Order: sequence, then C-alpha cells, then structure tokens
Amino acid sequence: MAPAKVEILIPHEQIQKRIAELGAEISAAYGDRSIVLVGVLKGSFMFLADLVRHISCPVRIEFIGTKSYEGTTTSGQVQLTKDLDKPIQDEDVLLVEDIIDTGLTLTYLLHVLSQRQPRSLKTVAFLDKPSRRRIEVRGDFIGFTIEDKFVIGYGLDFEQRYRHLKDLCILVP
Ligand code: IMP
Repeated sequence: MAPAKVEILIPHEQIQKRIAELGAEISAAYGDRSIVLVGVLKGSFMFLADLVRHISCPVRIEFIGTKSYEGTTTSGQVQLTKDLDKPIQDEDVLLVEDIIDTGLTLTYLLHVLSQRQPRSLKTVAFLDKPSRRRIEVRGDFIGFTIEDKFVIGYGLDFEQRYRHLKDLCILVP
C-alpha cells in the first residue's frame, strides 16, 4: 500500500494562538475558583497539555477514556475504557475533548459525569464538526469549527497513528 500523504489544515502556530485565547476565556469565566479538568483520552492529551498552561485558576487534572471509532467511522456505541481516579462531587468540572463530531461521546460523558453531582459541568473542545451531529449537543468553549473532513494530528489519530503531529492535518489518499 502506498504511504498516505498528509496535508496541513491548521498549522501549529495558529493552534497555539487560539489555545492562548481559549485559556484566557476559561480563566476569565472561572476567576479564582479551582477547576477539575477532565481530559478525554486519548485524543485530548496534546490539547490539554497546551491549554492548561494558559489557565490561571488552580486546576486538578483527571483523565477519562472512551472508545467508539473503528478506522474513520463511529460504531455508534460509546464505551468507557478508563474512569476518573477521584470523585468530582461539588467540583467545577471542565471536560476537555479533542473533537465534537456526532456528539455521541460528549452526550454520554455529560450523562455519566452529571450523575456524580459536580457543582458545575462544562466542556471545552479543540474542534467542532457541527455538520456531522447525530445528537444535539454543544461545547461551551470551542477552539475551531471545521468542515466534514477526517482530521489527524495534534492528538487525533487514524487507527492509533499520527497523534504526534504538531499541526492538524488531513490524510490525502
Ligand atoms: P463523536 O462522534 O462526537 O462521539 O466523537 C468521538 C470521538 O471520535 C472523538 O473524541 C475523536 O476521538 C473521534 N473522532 C471524531 N472525528 C474524528 C476525526 O476527524 N479524526 C480523528 N478522530 C475523530
């Protein structure tokens, strides 16, 4: 099989600029309240690492893992692959997602986490692909809104590859 060509959709510098803005928006929204950032594995790891450096309020970091994709298509079923280490009751929780696509994962996670009685529960997503929604759900803070293209890099994968790329890219067959 010929190696796939990778094209840059959003370069690293533009990503960093937007993340600094998002960090400022989040810091202003929470003031000096402490927040629990819940990174959704694996896709959000790079976004969370960059974002947290622009957040000025005190933070605790947790991770939760989900799985729904096989290749470039969603199975439609969301599974938890890793749970939080500590309770989030009475905490201000900010869920950190790589991308809101069909909306199934976010809807599932908001349901699971809200049952644990956080004080507040909001979402920041690096990317939003609203044209693909199968269920009505919105992020509170969004990095970039993109068209219906399968993207890789900056934490996002195709069959567990390409997560390490510093730019957001698309695969060209
Ligand atoms: P959902 O369809 O909104 O449930 O998206 C669930 C997950 O699918 C996201 O958190 C991503 O990890 C993955 N995903 C959705 N679209 C893409 C994409 O374009 N590239 C890579 N992963 C994606």
